[in-house]
Amino acid sequence: MPNFQLYNYNTVSSTNDKAKTFAEKGNFNLVVIAERQTKGRGRFNRKWSSSSGGLYMTILLKEKNSDKIKYLTLIASLAVSKSIKSLSGLNGMVKWPNDVLVNGKKVCGILTEILHGKKTYAIIGIGLNINQKKFPKIIMEKATSLKIECNKQFEVKTAAKFIIREFQRLYAYYEKHDCLKITNLWKKSSHTIGKWVKAKTLEGEYAGKAIGIDKDCNLLLKLDNGKIKKIMEGDIFITANTA
Ligand code: BTN
Repeated sequence: MPNFQLYNYNTVSSTNDKAKTFAEKGNFNLVVIAERQTKGRGRFNRKWSSSSGGLYMTILLKEKNSDKIKYLTLIASLAVSKSIKSLSGLNGMVKWPNDVLVNGKKVCGILTEILHGKKTYAIIGIGLNINQKKFPKIIMEKATSLKIECNKQFEVKTAAKFIIREFQRLYAYYEKHDCLKITNLWKKSSHTIGKWVKAKTLEGEYAGKAIGIDKDCNLLLKLDNGKIKKIMEGDIFITANTA
């Protein structure tokens, strides 16, 4: 994979939207980084708290294989987890489908989008809480930052550099179609697998033991009746730590 061109901004509406404007002009293999966002968003169009001190970055790639796009979210979450370890020594655990947790609280969210134009692009937005000391009340209990966990300030640019380097390393497996390698690495850092969870999806709620992810990155739940339920999207809540 070629080196990424970096674009740094003070304030943007959303780095994902900024990346889209690059894609619309036919640019790709680049990273948009901003110090804050005025309209940072997450999955299901939720607001993403984007005050200064956090890392807001989007990787823009040309994509041939859009049915494998969910792997890019796994790769990004693994890259963040590894970078958290290198920066702070903390264990960043990946939570299906798109989060990284530290000490059970969300430190990072990933929003992967696809843009179909003359070409197809993948837009991988990463929000990592680094130096924030507090969050809006509504998420305070569930969110954390590296600073809250370590009582130490971190260099946001260094975090971005680590994440990009690790993303490129893992992306090489994706390019070689070695998706099994990615799923295996993800399982090793997983906060979800082996736990009892409740999955809230658009078609309903399911409770069961998270036993793995399939080749399409769906979460596999073993329900009480012994059947395996494929969860394709939704939110996961851990109901017990061990099975
Ligand atoms: C989620 O947990 O729902 C995903 C949150 C993704 C937030 C990042 S911050 C950088 C990029 N720009 C956005 O507007 N969203 C993503």
